[in-house]
Amino acid sequence: TKTSLPSYPMKLQRCWEMPENHNKQDRQYEYTENEQLIDTCLISSPQLNVYKTIMSESTHTEVREHIIGDKNVLAGTVYVEMLRCAAKKVLKNDKMQVDNLLFMNAMIFEKGQTREVQTILYLRTDDKYDVTIQSRPVGEETWEIHAQGQVSVLAEENPESVDIEKMLRSMAQRPLENETSPVEQLVTTGPRWQVNRGLWVGNEEAVTMAEIDSKFTDELKKYYLYPSMLDAAVNCSSALNGNNFCLPYYYGTLKIYDKIPKKIYSHTIRNAAASSSDGELNVFDISIVDEFGRVIAIVKNYAMKKAGASQKKQFYQKEVPWMHTLNWVKETTDFKAARPENDEKAVIVVRTIDNCNERLLEEIRDTFRGNIYELILCEWEMRDTARKYYSAPGDLNRICTYFEAFDETEIARVIFMVQEHRSVYTIEKLDDAVENMLHAYYNIIYVLAFNKKLGNPRVDLIIKTTGPEIDPMALALQGMGKSLLNEYSRLKMGCIVYTSETELKHVINELFYSHNDYLILLKNGERFVMGMKEVSIEHEPSSEKKFELTKGGTYIITGGLGGIGLVLAEYFAELESNIRLVLMSRRELLPQEEWEKETDVLYKRLCELNSKVSELIYCSCDVSDEKSVEKHVESLGCVTGIVHAAGVAGGGFIIKKDWDDYLKVLKPKMHGTLNMLNLSRKYKPEFIVLFSSYSTILPVAGQSDYISANSFIDAMVVQKDSELPVKVINWSGWKECGMAYDNGGEMIRTPVTFLSNAEGVELFAKAMVLEERQVLIGKINCEVLEEVADDYSKVIRFPDYVTEKIKNGHGNVKNQREIYHVTITGKDAPLTETETKVSQAWAKVLGLKEIHYQDKFLEIGGDSLSATYLQKELNNSYPQAMDITDVFVYSSIKEMADFIDSKIQQERKEESMEQRHLNEDKGKSTTSFAKNAKGDLNELLQMLADGKIDVKEAGKYI
Ligand SMILES: NC(=O)c1ccc[n+]([C@@H]2O[C@H](COP(=O)([O-])OP(=O)(O)OC[C@H]3O[C@@H](n4cnc5c(N)ncnc54)[C@H](OP(=O)(O)O)[C@@H]3O)[C@@H](O)[C@H]2O)c1
Repeated sequence: TKTSLPSYPMKLQRCWEMPENHNKQDRQYEYTENEQLIDTCLISSPQLNVYKTIMSESTHTEVREHIIGDKNVLAGTVYVEMLRCAAKKVLKNDKMQVDNLLFMNAMIFEKGQTREVQTILYLRTDDKYDVTIQSRPVGEETWEIHAQGQVSVLAEENPESVDIEKMLRSMAQRPLENETSPVEQLVTTGPRWQVNRGLWVGNEEAVTMAEIDSKFTDELKKYYLYPSMLDAAVNCSSALNGNNFCLPYYYGTLKIYDKIPKKIYSHTIRNAAASSSDGELNVFDISIVDEFGRVIAIVKNYAMKKAGASQKKQFYQKEVPWMHTLNWVKETTDFKAARPENDEKAVIVVRTIDNCNERLLEEIRDTFRGNIYELILCEWEMRDTARKYYSAPGDLNRICTYFEAFDETEIARVIFMVQEHRSVYTIEKLDDAVENMLHAYYNIIYVLAFNKKLGNPRVDLIIKTTGPEIDPMALALQGMGKSLLNEYSRLKMGCIVYTSETELKHVINELFYSHNDYLILLKNGERFVMGMKEVSIEHEPSSEKKFELTKGGTYIITGGLGGIGLVLAEYFAELESNIRLVLMSRRELLPQEEWEKETDVLYKRLCELNSKVSELIYCSCDVSDEKSVEKHVESLGCVTGIVHAAGVAGGGFIIKKDWDDYLKVLKPKMHGTLNMLNLSRKYKPEFIVLFSSYSTILPVAGQSDYISANSFIDAMVVQKDSELPVKVINWSGWKECGMAYDNGGEMIRTPVTFLSNAEGVELFAKAMVLEERQVLIGKINCEVLEEVADDYSKVIRFPDYVTEKIKNGHGNVKNQREIYHVTITGKDAPLTETETKVSQAWAKVLGLKEIHYQDKFLEIGGDSLSATYLQKELNNSYPQAMDITDVFVYSSIKEMADFIDSKIQQERKEESMEQRHLNEDKGKSTTSFAKNAKGDLNELLQMLADGKIDVKEAGKYI
């Protein structure tokens, strides 16, 4: 029965539409037959027609059911149906011809992505339309073009029907399933694509029979060229492509005579003349017919192109890489010529007495002229002169006294000329260098940080390098300076490394350039900064080399009783049981025969380990002690591999730490490393792995000892004397064991995510087979990094994927800071505004939901690392209000909030005083100068320049 529906008058209204609201449910009209792939018409004019479709995995089976690699990718035949559908609207004809249809970029849907697709038809003079299919993720600006061609009405009779039986006679039927074919391996399709029913292959020709599953026959009416059927028809040619994974590239001519029915045959003939002989390009002619032989479509010159490795890669989720390495990146910014600052503040050059870089010293003297003072480091006593002062590098008192003399003038700069070392370090030379360089630098920083009257000096290290390597002690110094970048906001830190052929004027210029980079390398007249790049791991399984241990080998793990050392020892035992494992740590253990009786977890693990390897040896040995190491290793007789994992967690700000504590962190890394290298020279092991830390690349305040020690290790990547098989691994934190875990580090949001034990050993094995000598292990967490990226941009250039992610992925973080809800106990009255902000910052940094009003930051989980995060967090709301040291002085929420409030009040007071002075200034400036007994010529000249007095008036005062 028919029902008549009431009709309403319609009002047309034009409006702008938000793309996100536009999904399939909001289609502006119901599908009409064969219009499944077009949503709306955006522009309809005689010349230009634009159709829009919003597509996603959830709205379109075409997206959902076609996966290449692990991405949803639109099949080429969907473009064909899409353009046919749009062209039908302008051509008003079902029969049409598509020419020169070129596939340019695959339309890839990232996880959960919705794309806006446009089909654009532009009328050319000869009744042909140019057609373009382009798309972009909804909400983004840039379009990607996927296909371009021409379309016109097909004004010719249908060709004669084909005799299918006759066609098949010259070919042999083949089984359909071919799991090993490259297409099967890469492409995964859904049920609508399971249409292949038969395959016949002859000489340079093939026939496929395709039939849509009866469950989907109803869908046929929504399409003219059902994409999966057309796909089966044209890609039957894959049977003739050899063992190559090819992608559709080009349709020379496609003549569409009729709608694709439930069942079709497709006959493909390879056009050998047009195909390339190397298999790169395969060209075919194809006829598609129904089961009665009636022609549906004819394709001439259909080309498929072999997909290259980089093309294949785009179909895989780009995994955030686990491993990186370092490289020097050329910096192309052109800076203006250098000009010394025009002020009276002192410039202090620090150098050892035997530093022979006279030419550089002369250049510096010439540049800063009257402002220059020299602090010369020497162990014996020397008489000071007006400009030269002598001090032992470790004499903190004398260095303090020296700097106090600059209380009045303030210090503009400290230039630390780093001593060159030309030979391999011995332990003795290393001790000298630690004392002359590191201890002196430590003392100077201590004084500058402590004595605020010295102003806000810039401290630059200048390092000369003769070969590709940077002296390890110089690198240790730069590591120390790097960690101080965020420790004392008053001090500006810098480090210039230059190669011997660099013109010294370039080195001097560098001191004046206004850039933020902490570390600059000047080489062959060019400037470089440190960059990080991903270490690529190929998808091809064949390229995977394996890390293996040698049967019967002897492997030393220093720090073997530590968190990572022991996990690695257990991994080695799993990998190869026929080995001798030697663990070295300082502590004494019970004799081995007593281990079984012990209930302690360490002994249990050691017993287990002992049962798995040929021999387990424990050496109680300080790795920084040359003699002790030699004695232990001599008794072993041979060494096959060394993992140097001994280390002591550092921490603490320079102003709160004394030098002896500093040395405890330096020694196992610096002296230990030298001892391990000496062993390697003697015993020639297959590998020597030195454990360093990610903190040498992404430094944190309060870690200068640890970063400096690890930077020394980083320098070992390039060896001065030999081709030792050294590898340096810069670990991010481990979350289940080790020093970061022991210190509760894993609860802090870090820019490089922490590793589980399983991840750690797996990545260790991968890093070991990589070519790279230095491997940074740990995934970058862009979300966290974004919050501190500005700081880190001073020390490293991140790889493009990180920069892109920070730019695009989490663009909102900065503007919409997360609000952390926290309950504050111990205060009845409501919190003040500042207290609320401070408590939220605590909650975020410490990951707590409840805090007592009087709790001390360091007592409820805070440490020097989290203190820097807290300082940053608070400085977002109260710029410049907190110095890092203030976090330790004002340690409860109340104290911190009171301190910030007092600072704000003081600032306001100063501002209003300044304003008052400014107002009074105009009238009184000259009189104030006259009254001021100390009024000097500079002040007078400044007043002249500012127009506050004229020349006549100035003359009176002179
Ligand atoms: N865990 C992490 O998150 C992480 C992150 C980055 C880098 N790393 C690096 O990885 C290595 C291992 O760290 P870990 O977490 O396993 O540290 P750990 O648990 O603290 O173990 C360090 C081990 O080194 C030993 N040791 C320290 N000084 C020594 C010396 N002078 N001579 C001999 N042994 C000494 C300690 O034992 P004794 O006290 O008995 O001597 C301890 O067994 C370290 O170099 C560390 O810097 C670790």
